[in-house]
Amino acid sequence: MTAATAISGKHALVTGGGSGVGRAIALALAGAGVNVTICGRREAGLAKVTSESDRIHGIAADVTDEAAMASLYETAEKARGAFDIVVANAGKAGSSPAHKTALADWQETLDVNLTGAFLTVKPALAGMAARKSGRIVFIASTAGLKGYAYVAPYVAAKHGVVGLMRALAAETAKSGVTVNAVCPGFVETDMLEESIQRIVEKTGRSADEARASLASTNPQGRFIQPQEVAAAVLWLCGDAAASITGQAISISGGETW
Ligand SMILES: NC(=O)c1ccc[n+]([C@@H]2O[C@H](COP(=O)([O-])OP(=O)(O)OC[C@H]3O[C@@H](n4cnc5c(N)ncnc54)[C@H](OP(=O)(O)O)[C@@H]3O)[C@@H](O)[C@H]2O)c1
Repeated sequence: MTAATAISGKHALVTGGGSGVGRAIALALAGAGVNVTICGRREAGLAKVTSESDRIHGIAADVTDEAAMASLYETAEKARGAFDIVVANAGKAGSSPAHKTALADWQETLDVNLTGAFLTVKPALAGMAARKSGRIVFIASTAGLKGYAYVAPYVAAKHGVVGLMRALAAETAKSGVTVNAVCPGFVETDMLEESIQRIVEKTGRSADEARASLASTNPQGRFIQPQEVAAAVLWLCGDAAASITGQAISISGGETW
């Protein structure tokens, strides 16, 4: 049995599924026969992705809002069954030197990337443990494994996500549930384009120079593609990865390990 047939018919939640990495994960899961619920705050992004596959369904929800996530679970699970797979992908990044970072920016970055990840998976935990099966995957970052300058809240939040993943893996190890994180380096998405624009605005470098400088952090000298992250998530969701839990898997061309 292939990984694809093993997960066919299951139900997955992918937060931030209306763009970038989340869209690629939703399409990969749908391609393997999984029914996928995606969420994000912007209806337009969700609608674009749901139009790409009959198996993908959108619900607008903010991952930092516990009541909105509870309501998403209620609606989606009523329609398509309990979530077998939860992918906490929604995230945001800003940049500024730490001493110039406003408390509001610090708080918002932690809210979306870390608290949002917790609120995304929390409602799934008891049911997965009771059914003795489930897959939880956090989309962290190489920023969850090493430090980068000028993104202190993001680095702190993503290290927190890796810690959350390890705690949940320990807590669920005997239950048949696996909990892992994937840690991409720079991925070619809107988030990367925004980082390039910020470098251009703040340093006066050209977009090409900024692009080359970010790509050079990857020893392979290139950006990761969203589909490469999705392929790792798909594997983690299959039966072949049943013994993989508590891992932070670097998808970075060898930048971290
Ligand atoms: N691109 C990279 O270089 C890179 C590298 C490593 C890790 N990552 C991680 O990969 C994940 C996906 O990022 P991406 O590169 O695909 O960027 P992206 O295209 O900007 O996607 C971010 C997604 O998160 C959603 N989102 C943001 N805040 C949200 C909130 N409060 N509630 C619900 N959804 C929210 C956004 O949708 P709405 O705006 O509609 O809410 C959007 O769909 C993030 O966790 C990011 O940290 C990215």
